[in-house]
Amino acid sequence: MTTQLVRTIAQARSRVLDARHAGFTTGLVPTMGDLHAGHGALIERARRQTDFVVVSVFVNPIQFDRASDYEKYARDVQRDVEFCTAHGVDLVFAPDPAEMYPTPSQTLVEVSGVSEHLCGEFRPGHFRGVATVLAKLFHILPADRAYFGEKDGQQLAVVRRMVADLNFPVTIVAVPTVRDADGLALSSRNQRLTPEQRAIAPRLYQALSAVSGKIAEGCKDAAEAKEAGLAILRQEPLIRVEYFEIVGAADMQPCNPVEGRVAIAAAIWLGETRLIDNILTAAQPS
Ligand code: PAJ
Repeated sequence: MTTQLVRTIAQARSRVLDARHAGFTTGLVPTMGDLHAGHGALIERARRQTDFVVVSVFVNPIQFDRASDYEKYARDVQRDVEFCTAHGVDLVFAPDPAEMYPTPSQTLVEVSGVSEHLCGEFRPGHFRGVATVLAKLFHILPADRAYFGEKDGQQLAVVRRMVADLNFPVTIVAVPTVRDADGLALSSRNQRLTPEQRAIAPRLYQALSAVSGKIAEGCKDAAEAKEAGLAILRQEPLIRVEYFEIVGAADMQPCNPVEGRVAIAAAIWLGETRLIDNILTAAQPS
């Protein structure tokens, strides 16, 4: 089976509507391309659960807070289509920015609360850009289910909240983070790391795991639990910590004492490259 590539909103919509009218369930995997095994896990889940799988490939300009990051983002749609063909995807929607934003959007989707901390604090406007493009994609590609990675835990929480608040008729499915053997979460940005930076990048996961271990032992004090991870990161002078927090898994608000389902979430810089990761865990009952 070959994957069909469409570039326009009209073509994409009509292909998905045809599939629905034919009685197929539809699954959407929104991406920014440069596909890797993390995206592959989302696609595989979508294929198991739905009949017709659509992958969107769009580097969304309005979610980038730094122009250089937008420009540096790897773009190779042919390679992504080959990846999708190998993974049994039915349709790839890869619009140009002018197709998605013929004029600057005057309507923007702001999900308050859940967007405020962590990445929301350090990347102003980022989640507004994510929520806005996803609202558009959910309309353009009406899917029964849409698939997101736990890797971007706050993004997942933002999408869930937007879908609940605005009654989008789509079920959000979360897929666990895919990691390299040494624990580093797969990310398009990993290829920007120098060999030296790549060698120490797994410290991030080790630090998050150390905090998760403290919580599993029954530690309820957020500062004490976080210290177990921060101590690991401090050993690497090349790592600059942007944030390192324990938050509620659904509301993304810092929590102390540590209770219920939590995410241990961090962003670090290695040179010019920013890496994020998180671990979901449950605190011991009090
Ligand atoms: P992108 O970074 O391409 O990621 C697309 C999807 O793949 C997201 O749901 C992300 O969480 C998931 N993903 C990435 N790396 C993963 C990994 N190692 N394991 C599991 N899932 C992983 O996230 C975006 O694009 C954009 O913000 C988007 C949602 C498409 C809106 O523009």
